[in-house]
Amino acid sequence: MQVVFVKKIQKVVVLGTGGTIAGTAANASEQVAYTAAQVGVAQLTAALPGLDAALAGRQLVVEQVAQLDSKDMDHATWQLLARRCAHWLAQADVDALVITHGTDTIEETAWFLQAVLQPSKPVVMVCAMRPASSNEADGPQNLHDALVVSAQPLAAGVSVVCAGVIHNARHVQKVHPYRLDAFSSGDAGPLGWIQADQVRWLSAPQAAPVSTGTLAEQVTRTAVNQWPVVEVVLSHAGASRRPVDALVQAGVAGLVVAASGNGTVHHEVQAALLDAQRRGVHVRRSTRCQEGPMVGNSSPWPDMDGLSPLKARISLMLELLAESEV
Ligand code: SIN
Repeated sequence: MQVVFVKKIQKVVVLGTGGTIAGTAANASEQVAYTAAQVGVAQLTAALPGLDAALAGRQLVVEQVAQLDSKDMDHATWQLLARRCAHWLAQADVDALVITHGTDTIEETAWFLQAVLQPSKPVVMVCAMRPASSNEADGPQNLHDALVVSAQPLAAGVSVVCAGVIHNARHVQKVHPYRLDAFSSGDAGPLGWIQADQVRWLSAPQAAPVSTGTLAEQVTRTAVNQWPVVEVVLSHAGASRRPVDALVQAGVAGLVVAASGNGTVHHEVQAALLDAQRRGVHVRRSTRCQEGPMVGNSSPWPDMDGLSPLKARISLMLELLAESEV
């Protein structure tokens, strides 16, 4: 008897959420006045030059999870996205996910998905600075690059691909409102580059610890209006205690202070945060500097392991959710 092994075709799943990569303007030369989130992800992938090469023998599956300008990203959409990612990542014949997203909050969604799912398979997020209707659109090249990265044996966890650069979810930040290469990973540097379909890793992505799935289950199951409310407050010249007091009054569970320099906080804000802490509010500290973590710790509040204030907000919210009874 002859035994024939039939190799199953693996899949890459592209999930659409909107953004400029799916945006349109009134004419092809318009790069600034456009509406984000107009073109479906099926249309974006169908129009992609070099799609077969980028798929590298994998079958393409597309799903429109949301269609929004990422300035309006919300917890309900995050929850839905986490559910769909968890669903696809659990399929043995799915190799990787690619997620199209707006640039404005992609770093937050990337960190949320990394923290919640800790995927060992690659989840490559991709965006664009020019709308799909532009005669100089960057979206097709970025999407092609993201598919190339998603097929890499070394790829793992959540990354962001833009302008030929691969960034780690933990370090990536949008640092420019207009230029095509709008992202930086600060001191940590990028994970690598994509050049003519070749990936040059600068540092290999860390294989994620095997997730117990407990947090993912809690995040996907708990109604978003039950998620702990965590806000960011800014320490700045001329700051007052008013924003902190108002937030405490409104019933926040946690506050992240975006501190100046190496974690310093305006004395008025500091006094308000200490009062908030005495009233049971969880306080964390992060620097508003864009490059590099704080060093030493002379503050009453723990820092968040080098996370930006926006990502620290997500981590504290997840930490409090994990501890909660809901
Ligand atoms: C958005 O973030 O959805 C709009 C801006 C962009 O994608 O560049």
